Amino acid sequence: MPTSPIDVTSTAAWQELSVHESTLTPDLRGWFADDPERATRLTLPLADLTVDLSKNLVTDETLALLVRLADEVGLADRLQAQLRGDHINVTEDRAVLHTALRRPAGAQPPLVVDGQDVDADVQAELTKMFAFADKVRSGEWTGVTGERVRTVVNIGIGGSDLGPVMAYEALKPYVQDGLEVRFVSNIDPSDLAETVKGLDPATTLFIVASKTFGTLETLTNARLARTWLWEQFGTADDDESRNAAVAKHFVAVSTALDKVAAFGIDPTNAFGFWDWVGGRYSVDSTIGTSLAIAVGPDAFREFLAGFHAVDQHVATTPFAQNVPVLMGLLNVWYVNFLGAHTHAVLPYAQYLHRFAAYLQQLTMESNGKSVRWDGTPVTTQTGEVFWGEPGTNGQHAFYQLIHQGTRLIPADFIAVANPAHPLTDDGVDVHGLFLANFFAQTKALAFGKTADEVRAEGTAEDIVPARVFSGNRPTTSILAAALTPSVLGQLIALYEHVTFVQGVVWGIDSFDQWGVELGKKLALEIAPAVQGDAAALAAQDPSTRALISRYLELRA
Ligand code: F6P
Repeated sequence: MPTSPIDVTSTAAWQELSVHESTLTPDLRGWFADDPERATRLTLPLADLTVDLSKNLVTDETLALLVRLADEVGLADRLQAQLRGDHINVTEDRAVLHTALRRPAGAQPPLVVDGQDVDADVQAELTKMFAFADKVRSGEWTGVTGERVRTVVNIGIGGSDLGPVMAYEALKPYVQDGLEVRFVSNIDPSDLAETVKGLDPATTLFIVASKTFGTLETLTNARLARTWLWEQFGTADDDESRNAAVAKHFVAVSTALDKVAAFGIDPTNAFGFWDWVGGRYSVDSTIGTSLAIAVGPDAFREFLAGFHAVDQHVATTPFAQNVPVLMGLLNVWYVNFLGAHTHAVLPYAQYLHRFAAYLQQLTMESNGKSVRWDGTPVTTQTGEVFWGEPGTNGQHAFYQLIHQGTRLIPADFIAVANPAHPLTDDGVDVHGLFLANFFAQTKALAFGKTADEVRAEGTAEDIVPARVFSGNRPTTSILAAALTPSVLGQLIALYEHVTFVQGVVWGIDSFDQWGVELGKKLALEIAPAVQGDAAALAAQDPSTRALISRYLELRA
């Protein structure tokens, strides 16, 4: 492995892109008019996804230069290094092997990393998780009163929450009747209180999901849930009855099985994974146990197969046709050459309503960095802000700014052709109506509306400027036949690889997250002050001290 990243700004391709940008006048109307093949040429397959890149602010020359940029920063080598398990997470000295989680059983040649047969480990843990999921689904697993599980409550935060909740919401039509999963993440006690409201403890199973099993929020919520369980059952105040309740109503997912045991959960009811799976890359590990219970092992395997199909595409497709690579490079183009600060992800699929929230951790915890993997400062802007809401809700909220604001906001539009609920309204297919919006929005953003077109509608001259749409607002459209488990896996893997590509170009370690540590540490230091410890309060800076004092006054 090289000892330092290549400085992307020193590459010939970067210099040429700078010159190219200064001479390029984005003109999607003109580009499409002059080039009838543009849409066909720039629409690429990615497993079951159709990805239309043609409404981006690029010419063939731009794309060729971006691909050269990828070559010049050594993307191919970095990708291979990741896939074979090199310790590319330098600051934590770890391999980055989420792609191993979805290798099919029996994949050849076997993946052996640091002397460990990774494939065998993954399959063993999946088998254990699936056996447990089957027991819960069939009713073989029962609580202390002998009743089957009706509600699973996943307690986790960050990657131990966002992936499972997003995927559960996305795959709701696949959830077994009579089963429900709820999610608790925030240490705000209201979260736990609202989540367990109305639950029958006899039919509730808690999954404590924490890679480290040391996260304050998750362990606090797990203890609150345990207390709730004991109170609800009226469990006698002796260890035996309490342990019996925990044994039948708590399981865990973690890489730290010793800590799981210390909490009182039997390690035989714990599902493991490995330090080479980053939290935000873990939904396809046993962190997805709640999902596996909800949708079942077959659907979960399909989910994994979707990820794997995209991994195969990334590993084997030339960069010029490699969808995740091109999407990552387009993001670099927008952030570093066209000055974009944010990126919208707009699913035209209600079931994907948590997708943007999930992507926020994936992309921003990965690429929100100011130093490169060798500790030197970055040489460019990094990590744009990802955000979004499902269409058409977003249309009636923030699309105004995307259409007519002063900022460039590249946007990904995601839709599926076949809805889970093909409802009609007076004979009209409502999903078709919904997707007419998907097609209309990207068209409006790309081609806009000129002043002459506005005037031709008879608009008063003084109103014309307000009704002009500049167009040339870039979008990528992603279309699939249906939101199946496989398609969901494909979408997630797509963005994992996009994130990786951007990180490689910027020379950063996309797999650590030191930026979350300081706040965590300070919260622990501040906690005594908030509980009224005068010395701890006196030790705070004036602003924080005054705020805490005011809080203590307000606190009844
Ligand atoms: O927010 C920091 C972080 O470490 C995330 O990367 C991780 O997903 C989350 O906390 C939860 O961590 P754990 O699964 O160890 O509880």
